[in-house]
Amino acid sequence: MPLFDVYPIQDITIVKAKGSRVWDQQGQEYLDLYGGHAVISIGHSHPHWVERIKTQLDKIAFYSNSIRIPLQQELATKLGTLAGKPNYQLFLCNSGAEANENALKLASFYTGRKKIIAFTKAFHGRTSLAVAVTDNKNIIAPVNETENVIFLPFNDVAALTECFQKQGKEIAAVITEGIQGVGGIQVADDSFLQAIRLLCTQYGAIYIADSVQCGYGRSGKFFSHDYAGVQADIYSMAKGMGNGFPVAGILITPQIPAKHFQLGTTFGGNHLACAAALAVLEVMEAENLMDNALNMGSWLMEQLNQFPQLKNVRGRGLMLGFDVPDTLPDLKKSLLTRQHIFTGEAKPNVIRLLPSLTLTQADAAQFISSLQQEIQSSPN
Ligand SMILES: Cc1ncc(COP(=O)(O)O)c(C=O)c1O
Repeated sequence: MPLFDVYPIQDITIVKAKGSRVWDQQGQEYLDLYGGHAVISIGHSHPHWVERIKTQLDKIAFYSNSIRIPLQQELATKLGTLAGKPNYQLFLCNSGAEANENALKLASFYTGRKKIIAFTKAFHGRTSLAVAVTDNKNIIAPVNETENVIFLPFNDVAALTECFQKQGKEIAAVITEGIQGVGGIQVADDSFLQAIRLLCTQYGAIYIADSVQCGYGRSGKFFSHDYAGVQADIYSMAKGMGNGFPVAGILITPQIPAKHFQLGTTFGGNHLACAAALAVLEVMEAENLMDNALNMGSWLMEQLNQFPQLKNVRGRGLMLGFDVPDTLPDLKKSLLTRQHIFTGEAKPNVIRLLPSLTLTQADAAQFISSLQQEIQSSPN
């Protein structure tokens, strides 16, 4: 039976991984600045993470949410402390799309309203509501088309204010990434996030901070939205939360009460997922990974700005991007094939860096020197 061919892929088979390094079948080592799409937060196969999962596996891997699972409360407490939101409530699920889907549903249940504001170039996932608020017509199936979503230009306070003035009483939620990932590393202005907070409060709508890619310490703060100094009502989380183990969730403001059966999941919050997620938080804390993300990110940003060929270096912490000029069309490819460095991309010409938060100075320096070699050896 063939696999359903949904992705163009690199002809590379990775068989081993450790920290920020991966190895292919031939034993070739690569520096991983892509982190399997921002998923690897504490480094590949971190020993504490491996041990915690193995130990849990020997006890119990799964039981349904019909019984007490104390690991869920342990995770909620640790997450609340590290995220600086100890009074929020945690709902656990399995993927980023599912987290956003539940966030949007909850906002609609709570407000009794239907309309959602989303922004140009946003990516929120592929399930029905999550894809409806994603700004990419190619991935919205006819059945997911809805008139309930209003797309506005990103970072445009005037357009947002005008929309609320016209339809504020119908708006259930505003959803935005703190740093757009798929959209090419576009940072939300602090003033934009502050305006979302203000207008949502004024009109009784829910502010949903999609932190699936930009959250979990990657920006140097737990949530990149925190840079604006205002609280969202719901934060969605996934990628870095399990360091590769599928686990996701939403943090919900204490103002929104839970109702039995409104939200639910079979796999969400299972024993093994909680063990993986706890291991991630324990390592983040023990190794000061948010500080490392901030320091390594600032160093990389400074270095990248030294290349006149690279335009609009941007981002926060270890979520960085830059525009590659037409004269270097194969830069990403040559970094992979000649320098053995994985990077990410965003259409049409952006290189995205989404490494593990454990990235070392030596790793970062290796990347800069390899980048220099590739830029210098380019025929253009
Ligand atoms: C900002 C954002 N939200 C949601 C998602 C969807 O997450 P998942 O692929 O886990 O469903 C992604 C995935 O790339 C994302 O970047």
